[in-house]
Parts: sequence; C-alpha cells; structure tokens
Amino acid sequence: MTDISRRSFLKLLPAALLSLCLPGLKAASASSKSDIIFLRQLMAEDPCCRTIMWHSLQPHGNVQLQYKLNDAAASVSSISPKTDKFTLGDEDFYICTARLESLQPGHIYSYQVIQDNEASDWQKLSVPAANQPFKALIFPDSQCSDGYATWHNVAETGFSKNTDAAFFVNMGDLVDNGAAMFQWRQWFQAIEKHLPQLPFAPVMGNHETYNLQWLCHLPKAFLSFFALPGNGSLKWQRYYYDFTYGSVHFIVLNTMMEELDPLQPGLLDSQLPWLTQVVKASTAKWQVVLMHKDIINYEAALTDNPYDSIDPVGRVFMPYFDELNIDLVLTAHQHTYRRHDHIKNFRPALDGPVYIDTGNAGNCRYDVPRTRHFDKVMLPQPEVDNYLTLTAAETKLTVNCYSHDGLLMDSCTLAK
Ligand SMILES: [Fe+2]
Ligand SMILES: [Fe+2]
Repeated sequence: MTDISRRSFLKLLPAALLSLCLPGLKAASASSKSDIIFLRQLMAEDPCCRTIMWHSLQPHGNVQLQYKLNDAAASVSSISPKTDKFTLGDEDFYICTARLESLQPGHIYSYQVIQDNEASDWQKLSVPAANQPFKALIFPDSQCSDGYATWHNVAETGFSKNTDAAFFVNMGDLVDNGAAMFQWRQWFQAIEKHLPQLPFAPVMGNHETYNLQWLCHLPKAFLSFFALPGNGSLKWQRYYYDFTYGSVHFIVLNTMMEELDPLQPGLLDSQLPWLTQVVKASTAKWQVVLMHKDIINYEAALTDNPYDSIDPVGRVFMPYFDELNIDLVLTAHQHTYRRHDHIKNFRPALDGPVYIDTGNAGNCRYDVPRTRHFDKVMLPQPEVDNYLTLTAAETKLTVNCYSHDGLLMDSCTLAK
C-alpha cells in the first residue's frame, strides 16, 4: 500500500467533521482555569539534560521554571524559558521552552512552572545513573478519527502497566493531520497526566507533513511543539536526532524524503553522513534506530526475490545499518505488528539488524498481507491495537509487544 493510497483513504474523513470538531474543543480549552497547558518533558541528547515545554493562551510577564533535587535541604534554582508566539490555522498561542542542564546522574528532581500568579504542581524528573538498566514504552502510530479515544486507551494501558518506564516514544503519525490543531489538542489531552513526568521522544511521520488540504507541507506544528536535540543542521533542525539513554544509543531518523524533497530538498543527503558519524562516535553498547516508514513494500509482498519486496526507504538505509552494525530497527507506518527479525544484505539472516514494525495505537487500520520472506511474526488477525516495551539490561535488549489490554503477544531478546 503506497502513501498515495493512505492519503486517499484519509480524504474519506469529511472536511465538515473537522470543522464541526473545532469550536467545542476550542471552548473547552479556553474555559480551563490554568494557562500552563500541555506541560511536557522532552528527551535531550543526554539524560542529564532535559527540555521542558508548555503552551499558554496569553503572554505572561513573569515566567520561570523552578527545579530542585528531591532533598529537604536542597535549594530551588530558577531559569527563564524562551517564549515564542505560534499560529496554527486561526489559533494563536505561546510556546514556552526551558532547558535544564548538568543534572546529577542517579538523582530525582522536582520542577514547577511559575507564570505570573499561577504555579503548576511540582512534577517529578528522574535522571538515570550511567548505564542504568531501563525500560522504555514504544507506541506505534496514534493517528485517530475518534477524538483520540483509542490512543488514550492504548496509552493509558501502557502507562498504567509500566509505571517503571523511564521514557516513552511515539513512532510517528502522532496525529492524522499535522496542521489540525484540534487533533494535536486531542492527542496531548489523551496523555496529559503523563507528559509532565516522563520524557518523550517523538518520531516524525508522514501525517505530520500534511496540511488541511491533505497536501504536503513543512511540518510546522511538529517542529514547534517538540524542541528536540540538535543534529548540526539548521536546515533540518528537529527533523532527525539522536540521544543516549543508559546503554542504548537511539538514532531517530526521518524517512519523509518523498513528502519533503519537493518542498525542501536534501533530507537524505544531510542525514546519511550524520547517521554514520553519530553511530561511529557512540560508545554505547546498543545501537537502536527509530524511524517511521517500514522497510517492506507490501504491494510486492509475495515476490520470489526478497529484494523486490524491500521498500525504497529500506533500500536506502539498510546497507548503512548493515555496515554500522545496528542492533535493532523499529519502524511503523503500516499499522500492523510484524517482526521481520534479522535481515542482512536485503535477505532473511541469522545476524544483522533485527527489524520490527511496531504496530498500531490508533483506530486506522490497513489491509496488509503477510510477506513471503520477511514477516517472521505477525499477530492473530484481525489484529488488535498494541504497544511495546524496550528493556535494556546489562547484556540483553528485549522488545515485548503487548495488546491494547496488556496481554503479551510477542517477545524478542538480543544478547551480547
Ligand atoms: Fe500511520
Ligand atoms: Fe505513516
């Protein structure tokens, strides 16, 4: 199934429904007492740094981020955030961004936002010790047409059953339409109580690049809402990035060349040397790639030659993953869980990176056949929504796939 047919499917969503949704949701937000909206932690390049962001509907004169070690004797420090006015559609608001640096490994902090006469609750901020084992929650595509109720339910199960998770990832296509503010609001509201306390690492999907006419545009909302680690490129700032957490170096790639090249060429040319450079510079035990588009072309799922069923995205990136000894590649986009397992030289193998298409955490599903060569594990059909956990222990990296109600559906462990 191609991107074009995905977009055609989404055009079935009546435009009238979008406009009907807007007024009520706007009113609900405007009537809220707090002007500290969608307070969230974002992953920085190093877990001893953290980015804190929130929205406000009004400009404020006195804005501070206060933080302290969770210790009765600790003093409170304060920093001033950067505030940017932001417009999406007919809505204006302010985006505040503050960056905490040089946090002490292995300690727990608290932080709060002061905004004129208002203060947020104190929120927990955990900093891991070096090489500390950890668990991360991985959510596949969360795009929804049901007010993000499905996303809320899957995420709530994931968070409630994994209270020990250190951070969470969304594999892209967070929203169905990246220019629809009401969808972003619903997406944030669905996980509002978790955002302040768990760092978030988002991956950009193709739906983040769609405007309200379902044409591609530069993903202004995604880029503004998530102040992500730098990659050395001003042109592609926040499009792709990497971070190290415990023993794992995560490389978050951007697979939207088809969508973005006509608007702003050069994404792949910028990304490939960077990929090689950051992996070679990393001393982490595990190298894990997160990228939205899967490596399989399911329109050629039944071909004799395995290479024929590799998608152009796979054909570009997989030789680099082989060369750089990437351990694990997590993808999304097909809205179905498939463990492709080890692939090397475009063929099923006993070594080489393990590839997993992470599944679906929204209410949009496609008809995706089983490939002849690459779908080692697929879930019982018709498939239910799912989430994953990634656990990094001293010598093992384990990916578990759970159904939307928390039932273990698949497990894969790498050891070294
Ligand atoms: Fe998607
Ligand atoms: Fe997608």
